[in-house]
Amino acid sequence: MNISLLFSSCAVFIFLFSAYASEQTYFLNKDYISKINSVARTWKVGINFHPETPLKFILRLLGSKGVQASTTYLFKSNDPLYKTILSIPKEFDARKRWKNCTTIGTIRDQGNCGSCWAFSTSGAFADRLCIASNGKFNQLLSAEQVTSCCYRCGLGCQGGYPIKAWQYYNTRGLVTGGNFNSFQLVKDFPYVLVYENIQKDMMIYGPIESSFDVYDDFISYKSGVYSKTPNATYLGGHSVKCIGWGVERNVPYWLMMNSWNSTWGDGGYFKIRRGTNECKVEDSSTAGVPEY
Ligand SMILES: *[C@@H]1O[C@H](CO)[C@@H](O)[C@H](O)[C@H]1NC(C)=O
Ligand SMILES: *[C@@H]1O[C@H](CO)[C@@H](O)[C@H](O)[C@H]1NC(C)=O
Ligand SMILES: *[C@@H]1O[C@H](CO)[C@@H](O)[C@H](O)[C@H]1NC(C)=O
Repeated sequence: MNISLLFSSCAVFIFLFSAYASEQTYFLNKDYISKINSVARTWKVGINFHPETPLKFILRLLGSKGVQASTTYLFKSNDPLYKTILSIPKEFDARKRWKNCTTIGTIRDQGNCGSCWAFSTSGAFADRLCIASNGKFNQLLSAEQVTSCCYRCGLGCQGGYPIKAWQYYNTRGLVTGGNFNSFQLVKDFPYVLVYENIQKDMMIYGPIESSFDVYDDFISYKSGVYSKTPNATYLGGHSVKCIGWGVERNVPYWLMMNSWNSTWGDGGYFKIRRGTNECKVEDSSTAGVPEY
């Protein structure tokens, strides 16, 4: 190889590399993060990802096609048991309500795969089975199975519809991580919850799935109650498990479990503003009722 050819291929490489690098992580760099910290009032930002993490990696984590659930799905507006809830407590934490169900507080890691929709729904399904079985069933269910086997759910690691994952549990069942016992056992059709009933449904049956719009400031969330900062840029839809609610410094919130490892956010958890449909989080909660 002559010198000029070597030089030009090297230049092409450098050009491509720098184009790629500059595309990477504007929202992960320190200046951007400290700017968010100066604007966000109710929450704090910090370093969750290495600043050179490629943009592609981050976008791939956002695999929910279920933000603002379509009206073609079943919306659950009533349940005879809802009447048994006479008042909604100011705070609720499913981990404390059902202490024996340790899966409720188990943070998972979806890795470099857009299977948040599978982790959130299979997680809530396992929790609800534990609650329905009075603690006899207390295991994780396989997010991998639904990610790779449910063709109707979407595109596996490239994203999926949470409600379709519930439908898959209804018709096909789901195995535990360790053995091959399959748990199907959904009593009725899975449903999308209307805002008014989200809390009642959680108090009776357990955690639910929630989808919401992710903006670039959310990626670096560390603590407090998240609400989008004014200039944040939309990145994609994400799906998580909702395990409760509360009020922090007069701001109501939903308590959420992410599937980006316990190194992300507040030990793997985050809080998001409640009651104002923040990032459409109250438009698209899904669940099902397991029968044990
Ligand atoms: C979090 O990431 C670390 C390092 O990659 C890994 O060892 C650990 O298993 C992950 N945690 C979970 C809950 O998957
Ligand atoms: C829950 O755990 C407690 C303490 O370990 C135990 O005494 C109780 O029997 C458990 N309840 C169920 C329903 O398994
Ligand atoms: C948002 O962007 C506008 C227009 O670029 C700018 O004037 C404003 O100061 C920005 N606000 C914040 C809080 O960064």
